[in-house]
Amino acid sequence: MIRIPSFDLSSRNTFGMKVSCAMYIEYTSVEELKSILAEALPQPVFHIGGGSNLLFRGDFPGTVLHSAITGIDFHDDGDEVIAEVGAGVVFDDFVAESCRRGLWGVENLSLIPGEAGASAVQNIGAYGVEAGDVIDKVFCIEASSGKEVVFRASECAYGYRDSRFKHEKGRYIVTRVTFRLTRRYCPSLGYGNIKAALEGRDLEALTPLDVRDAIIRIRREKLPDPAEIGSAGSFFKNPVISKEHFDRILASVPDGKVPHFDLPDGTVKVPAAWMIDTCGFRGAVRGGAKVFEKQPLVIVNDSGSASPEDIIALEDEVIAAVRDRFGVILHPEVEHI
Ligand code: EPU
Repeated sequence: MIRIPSFDLSSRNTFGMKVSCAMYIEYTSVEELKSILAEALPQPVFHIGGGSNLLFRGDFPGTVLHSAITGIDFHDDGDEVIAEVGAGVVFDDFVAESCRRGLWGVENLSLIPGEAGASAVQNIGAYGVEAGDVIDKVFCIEASSGKEVVFRASECAYGYRDSRFKHEKGRYIVTRVTFRLTRRYCPSLGYGNIKAALEGRDLEALTPLDVRDAIIRIRREKLPDPAEIGSAGSFFKNPVISKEHFDRILASVPDGKVPHFDLPDGTVKVPAAWMIDTCGFRGAVRGGAKVFEKQPLVIVNDSGSASPEDIIALEDEVIAAVRDRFGVILHPEVEHI
């Protein structure tokens, strides 16, 4: 167990905000977690994963917990394979290992930053696949009682970047997650530009590693490299609006072209990136913060020394401009602490 008072969190949030917490505790087992929860800790208590979807607004007055429960085990279940993954495992390490073993299921989630525990909370998603589609069970400790609780995926209320764990914030701490993978050939290539990235390939002969490579290429073209520039990935969720609202937006655009996806319930999803771009924010700089040129859905810590205030000022400006131009309220995807 690691326990550090007055801990500098800059290496624990991918935005690279220079903030601290009163106490930082990293545990390596369920037993350690239970004993920590029985202590009188500096309040409030906040559990982080890879810190890749967070914006600390300033110093955190309480305790930050982090799981270092590791281990990836694969168990055969006929054609299927159950992967049991510690909450502290880097999610992409799990994806890479699954692909190396020829297992299908998580290859489209390649290169998403963060850890396995948080993947089950955020219901991370990319290229037509969400964690909730492949999660089998989520193993948790209830923070107030120290009791172990197991949820089947069907009990996790998974939705777009949403789960029961987001609504019952702090109630459960994820300790491990099982994912249902398969040896059976079943790539998911329907999303956007995946097929284009695989052009010239015999699709019938694809392996999970081939798809992983294509996804990595697509992501690297658009998204900032976390090793080089601080960000928290997509800053805003993609809004879903009524068909009538969409038609009004369509009529207001000079060329009459708006990228969109019709959803089965008749509503329309419009990429927030397009709205932000149309409002002229691509590359906009405020203090040390910038709207990323290659992907306006991402706000980056461009100077390396952006303050939370810089990021929030840019966020507020973007929200106001999109609201005034399109009548759509963007909601941040990044959690503000
Ligand atoms: N879309 C479809 N079907 C497609 C292609 C796109 O429904 O075949 C929808 C998407 O759901 C989205 C919109 O069209 O609403 C735009 O899609 P685009 O591929 O441009 O992605 P994005 O909006 O820039 C989202 C995620 C990314 C993820 C990509 C790829 C959010 C907030 N962001 O970005 O996630 O990598 O799709 O799937 O949903 C992140 O969360 O940090 C992140 C990078």
